[in-house]
Amino acid sequence: MQRSIALGHCVCDPQKPCPCPVFKEKDICECAGERLPVKSGTVRLTENVRAAGCASKIGKKDLKEILSGLPDIDDSRVIVGRSAGDDAGVIMLDESTATVLTVDVFAPSVDDPYTFGQIAAANSLSDIYAMGADAQAALSIIGFPIHELPPEAMREILRGGIEKMAEAGVSVIGGHSINDSEIKCGFAVTGTAPAGKLQKNTGAKFGDVIILTKPLGTGITSFAGQIGWADSEDITQIIKSMTMLNKRAGELMRKYNASAATDVTGFSLLGHISEIVKNSNIEIEIDFDALPLFSKVVDFAACGALPGAVERNRESVAPELIDFTTLPECLQNILYGPETSGGLLVFLTEDDAQKYIAELKESGNDYARIIGKVCSESTGGKIRVKSAGNLDTDSIRLRKTAKFKARVQASTESNAGDNQSSCCDSGAESSCCSDTNNSSNAAQAEATQSCCSGGDDPRESTSQKQRNLPAPAASSEFSGYMAAVNKSGAIDVKNKKLMALALSVSHKCAECVIINTEAARKQGATDAELSEAVAMGISFGGASANMFYQQLVNNR
Ligand code: CO
Ligand code: CO
Repeated sequence: MQRSIALGHCVCDPQKPCPCPVFKEKDICECAGERLPVKSGTVRLTENVRAAGCASKIGKKDLKEILSGLPDIDDSRVIVGRSAGDDAGVIMLDESTATVLTVDVFAPSVDDPYTFGQIAAANSLSDIYAMGADAQAALSIIGFPIHELPPEAMREILRGGIEKMAEAGVSVIGGHSINDSEIKCGFAVTGTAPAGKLQKNTGAKFGDVIILTKPLGTGITSFAGQIGWADSEDITQIIKSMTMLNKRAGELMRKYNASAATDVTGFSLLGHISEIVKNSNIEIEIDFDALPLFSKVVDFAACGALPGAVERNRESVAPELIDFTTLPECLQNILYGPETSGGLLVFLTEDDAQKYIAELKESGNDYARIIGKVCSESTGGKIRVKSAGNLDTDSIRLRKTAKFKARVQASTESNAGDNQSSCCDSGAESSCCSDTNNSSNAAQAEATQSCCSGGDDPRESTSQKQRNLPAPAASSEFSGYMAAVNKSGAIDVKNKKLMALALSVSHKCAECVIINTEAARKQGATDAELSEAVAMGISFGGASANMFYQQLVNNR
């Protein structure tokens, strides 16, 4: 403290002045070991992170650029190095045994500390199993905001990890911790494999079929959980899969002598499989309809609940490598979804594949499926994704988006009581409905959305610019939804605009009233019709809607 005061800079954090704001306001010097009260009670881990799970990885494209200028490995004992982009590095310390090394660290994708530790351990071990190796020992790596969150949460994370490692027969023999602003945990794992028995991300051949041992959609489902769309059953489903070890899947892969293998994690199914396809110079066909998927992944994807890593993963796979034929874009996104502790991707002959799946089932894994096959040799590689096209994603989007949003609204209202949500709540085009005096309820949520006009681009509205408000995430999906709802259907556009006007009045959204009055006029609505629509709105909104409308008229 004396040194800090003399310097005018905190000696623990040179970017802070001394005395620092905490000292001035609270008379507490953290450098002298004095502590602000730490949050107590249950900690929800995902509230303390930006990108959950393997979605917190740096994109493959950025990574490639960064790694490109680094010195080459100059050690003849290294048989799988950085440039291979494989699951783990391999060094031959003697002739008989390959030593396999890997490290994986990420931010929580679940709220419970113990579960997070279990997932981190299963995920770190997976790279060892993906190489067909046996895990031998592990070191933990943990970042934790020790001055902000209760230390018990950190212990629980480690306990979850150590117990999952023990299930795999692996001891955590040490580790490293960092006082970090964001929670992170992972493990460095060392494994071994008999020489010549490694399963690499190359060597797949014509005639192989492709097996995936866990469902896709952990990243999309946990993102849907973070925005309140997924329910506890959805989260339980992905946790069950993320905490499941790939140990047996790896052992069986060695038994049946797979021609190539990897595990599916942050870079997505296509990100990981594309490496094998390029390295092996093969053309493969993936059957979308055969993919194991978590139960609501299609719904979430169709309605646009997608984490940012989807775009990063899409950018990192060369477009000329992929042929989606007729698969709609929202379903393509599932194949670019970041996975946390995902399954193994195994290339086997058809005969062995059936035996592999049957034996894996005996060990309690019901997820494994054949998802495609190698069709031919092809220089540079090619991936075709086919689907019978039985999924009507437009109708899913129409039916489910409002439902998901109503869920969020219901829960925010039960949390906040008399809250001030705008009529186009979270993630929507809030600018056209920026007057937040309304208080809609869950049952009305479906209807409230029509107070925004779909056709015009409200993201460009001057009011938003003037107020310097951020653009909502995923708003393009919502625009798509709005455009679909606003189209002429069983009800024509003019009558839809009149309905929107009535709803705008009852929801007391000033800008919505103005936009929808103009829109209805454009469609040929007469003054008499407009006035009746307003009256409908007032009749449902009651005295306060009447007051709101009178004020709006008087102020113009
Ligand atoms: Co991997
Ligand atoms: Co990894």
